[in-house]
Amino acid sequence: MRRTPWAIAALALALACSKKPEGGGATGATTDGPIKVGEVGSMTGTEATFGISSDRGIQMRVKEVNGAGGIKNRQIQIIALDDQGKPEEAATAATRLISSEHVVALLGEVASTRSMFMADKAQPAKVPMVSPSSTNPKVTGKGDYIFRACFIDPFQGYVMAKFATDNLKLKKFAILKDVRNDYSVGLAQNFEENVKKMGGQIVATESYSNGDVDFKAQLTNMKASQPDALYVPGYYTDVGLVARQAREVGITVPLLGGDGWDSEKLYEIGGSALEGSYFSNHYSVDDPSPRIQEFVGKFKKEYGGQLPDSLAAQAYDAAGMLFEAMQKAPDLTGPNIRSTLADTKGFHGVTGDITLDTQRNPLKPAVVLQVAKGGKYDFVTKIYPEGVKVAAGEPSSPTARPEGNTAPNPSPGTVPTTTRTPAVGSSSSAQSAATTGQPQGVPSGEQPKK
Ligand code: PHE
Repeated sequence: MRRTPWAIAALALALACSKKPEGGGATGATTDGPIKVGEVGSMTGTEATFGISSDRGIQMRVKEVNGAGGIKNRQIQIIALDDQGKPEEAATAATRLISSEHVVALLGEVASTRSMFMADKAQPAKVPMVSPSSTNPKVTGKGDYIFRACFIDPFQGYVMAKFATDNLKLKKFAILKDVRNDYSVGLAQNFEENVKKMGGQIVATESYSNGDVDFKAQLTNMKASQPDALYVPGYYTDVGLVARQAREVGITVPLLGGDGWDSEKLYEIGGSALEGSYFSNHYSVDDPSPRIQEFVGKFKKEYGGQLPDSLAAQAYDAAGMLFEAMQKAPDLTGPNIRSTLADTKGFHGVTGDITLDTQRNPLKPAVVLQVAKGGKYDFVTKIYPEGVKVAAGEPSSPTARPEGNTAPNPSPGTVPTTTRTPAVGSSSSAQSAATTGQPQGVPSGEQPKK
């Protein structure tokens, strides 16, 4: 684009009048105009639903807060960038948001590996970052400017080990993990440690790399070890393919997994091969808890009847927690937002109350869901970590009650009581093929938001 002399003059004037940039701790924050907050997510690629759902949760919170007058009488402006599911792109996006957009804080990422790449940019720049759903402990371990709104994987690994051992009465597990994914590697380890403590056995461990499409060799090895279940702590596109191929090689036992399964695409890819399998997650849309039902209702209204997955709920909570700290902070400099965020206590989130510990991690309940016919996720049980009480008027699951406990870090306070035997889709599915790698309705590149 050519620049006219007028445009150059206007540009010079704009630069001369430009305010001090926000964020970055040392530079301070402006006192008028919209407050810029950065968002980084996978809006395209094999984990596109993670970025899209999170963005919807964030936008809904922004709309509510802006509608109620904003923060410090200013409106919030989200600047969202797509990292296409690539760690290096997440780092580049964070740098751009910090250095060029001068955001006061960052929301994102969902995937732990990408959050760590972002954190390496946010921490030295003193820009507070809140990950809605990254569960690997190493994420907040990156430094005191890095926060999260979700439970961590030592708890999530415990939850599935306990459920599989106590409720399903299973003993022998085979693990298939994604070695290029910190979340998958960490959660596999947390599951294994807990299974062994509970008297179970890991009879096979196999690996793949995110983006692989053929898992038959690993699955054939796993089948030979005759496991009672396969633990597959990966992301939905990979898991959907794994499920189909597991049935093709003749594995009939259930698959077990973690929050990375949560996507409307999981069942589109895996189909009936997934029926009867279980995964741990942050919440269930069927939970009768009033705060969850209120959120589900508002979200459906906002997004044409769409049900909010856990990414949407977590992102809504992460944004709410950040905005509350920004409102309470004496000003919008990095260090002051950071120290106010670190004091978060009893933030009333959809997925649970958030009180951050000294490592900037909340203690929150987890749910176990079962994939039903047609792809619905049935609520099976809710498990609380030690020290977390069910709030008055907040029913837990029909199958679980909070009680005292002695479990490890952090300890669950609820022993699930379902004893259903796993029922599993026994043949490979005739569903349509995986949509691996395809963008899902959101153009790549920058996603500027109002
Ligand atoms: N917990 C996953 C990670 O850390 C991300 C995730 C959260 C995926 C919730 C789906 C749902 O990588």
